[in-house]
Amino acid sequence: MTIIKRRAVLTGAVAAGGTLALSACAAETVPVATTPPSATVEDAPAEPTGEQLLGPSSEIMVGSGKKYEISASLTILVTRPQEDTFRAFNASCTHSGCIVSGVRDDQIACGCHGARFDPESGEVQAGPAKSPLGKIMVEVRGSDLFAII
Ligand code: FES
Repeated sequence: MTIIKRRAVLTGAVAAGGTLALSACAAETVPVATTPPSATVEDAPAEPTGEQLLGPSSEIMVGSGKKYEISASLTILVTRPQEDTFRAFNASCTHSGCIVSGVRDDQIACGCHGARFDPESGEVQAGPAKSPLGKIMVEVRGSDLFAII
C-alpha cells in the first residue's frame, strides 16, 4: 500500500512537472509562419477579377479623383485629369503601402510621408516613393465606370 501511494505521488509529481515543463515550453514557443490549408476551387475566396462596376463617371469632377475599395487588399483611385479622360491606379502607395489620400493641387497625394504622383500617368512627382502607382484599366460605358482587373 505504501508503494502504491509513493507511485501515485511520484506519478502526480511527474505529471505536475510535465505540465510545468509544457507550460514553460509553451511560453517559449515562437510563432512561425504558416501556409493556409489547400482548398478546393469552391472554398477559395473570391478575388476580384474581370470587370468591376465602379459607379457613375459623373461622381468624379475634372481635376479630382475618387477611391473605390474593391476588396480588403485592393483599393483603386480613379482620376479625371480632363473632361473625357479617366485613369485608374492601385491606390497603395509604392513607398510603404499607405492608401493615397486622393488628388490635391493636380497631384495624387500620399498623406503618410508626402509622396506625390501624376494623376494621368501615376509617375512619381515627389518622393520618397520611387516607383509609379500601379495602373489599372478603366473604361467608360454609357454613364458608368468599369475597372478591368
Ligand atoms: S507610404 Fe506613401 S509616402 Fe510613404
